[in-house]
Amino acid sequence: MSVLIGPMLAADAQRCTELERLLFDSDDPWRPEAFLEALAAGHYYLAAREGGSLIGYAGLARTGGEAEIHTLAVDPAHQGRGIGRALLRAMLDHAGGATVLLEVRTDNESAIQLYRSEGFEVIGTRRGYYRPSGADAFTMRRQASL
Ligand SMILES: CC(C)(COP(=O)(O)OP(=O)(O)OC[C@H]1O[C@@H](n2cnc3c(N)ncnc32)[C@H](O)[C@@H]1OP(=O)(O)O)[C@@H](O)C(=O)NCCC(=O)NCCS
Repeated sequence: MSVLIGPMLAADAQRCTELERLLFDSDDPWRPEAFLEALAAGHYYLAAREGGSLIGYAGLARTGGEAEIHTLAVDPAHQGRGIGRALLRAMLDHAGGATVLLEVRTDNESAIQLYRSEGFEVIGTRRGYYRPSGADAFTMRRQASL
């Protein structure tokens, strides 16, 4: 089966919340309302699907000349297949050369490795950024393409 990347729909919010609980349990996983609000705000949210099932998602918001990656997640059963990178590249395409920022847990080595390989660098640390775990975050930035 092939993976298709397309718009996230309001009907996906429940499934995304299931994955949030699986992946971000210690860090205040998003509730369905958070996804619905992001969609209603017109932010750029994508879903990766296979055989009709949602197996990954990502979201980005553009503000002025910058963009911020809100979220990026792949179902653990489907990690390591290139889906995270495909979602991230779709986000970066949409950012259209703008500077892109994101936060990532300092202990999330696989995500940090992915972001570095797509041109992000660490520009700062936010102590205790995640709640309720109290984990630290790196702020990473991908410079605008000139
Ligand atoms: C981070 C995440 C989105 C990556 O998605 P994925 O589909 O598994 O990643 P891909 O298969 O596209 O791999 C992309 C790159 O990620 C890195 N990576 C992925 N899994 C890795 C692992 N187990 N160890 C180290 N690096 C890893 C590698 O750089 C990899 O590139 P390579 O295949 O050329 O080596 C996924 O692991 C995930 O959902 N993690 C939990 C949620 C999360 O932490 N999201 C990020 C929040 S900021």
